[in-house]
Amino acid sequence: MKILIINGPNLNLLGKREPDTYGNSSFEDYLSKLREKFKDVEISYFQSNIEGELVDKLQWAERKVDGIILNAAAYTHTSIGIGDAVKAINTPVVEVHISNVTAREEFRHNSFIAPHAKGVILGFGLKGYELALSSFL
Ligand code: DQA
Repeated sequence: MKILIINGPNLNLLGKREPDTYGNSSFEDYLSKLREKFKDVEISYFQSNIEGELVDKLQWAERKVDGIILNAAAYTHTSIGIGDAVKAINTPVVEVHISNVTAREEFRHNSFIAPHAKGVILGFGLKGYELALSSFL
């Protein structure tokens, strides 16, 4: 089983950025624990701060992986292009947010991705990626 994790803008700063909201762990540290825990799953990882690169990666991933875990970060709330890409590909996408975006500012309540996602996981911290991964098994 091949799973691709895609993280959007500013998630390269995890561990340093707003730790009260996003925790103290870098994604790389979390990823090594995830790979350790799910030894039978081939987990690849891509992060970009650039909207078009996220669209490119989603298009590329079709037929190359069995599932995608996507945290498009702020682009979740603004990007019709990323939403359209999720809709365009046949690979199932689980949307993840570290924080419970529905309990935060109004502008974080909309997702252009959720209508095309297999499911959405919110508010469980980094554990949300693990929950998303389990949903593919
Ligand atoms: C986030 C929530 C978004 O609203 C925010 O812009 C992020 C991270 C989350 O994982 O909680 O950058 O996607």
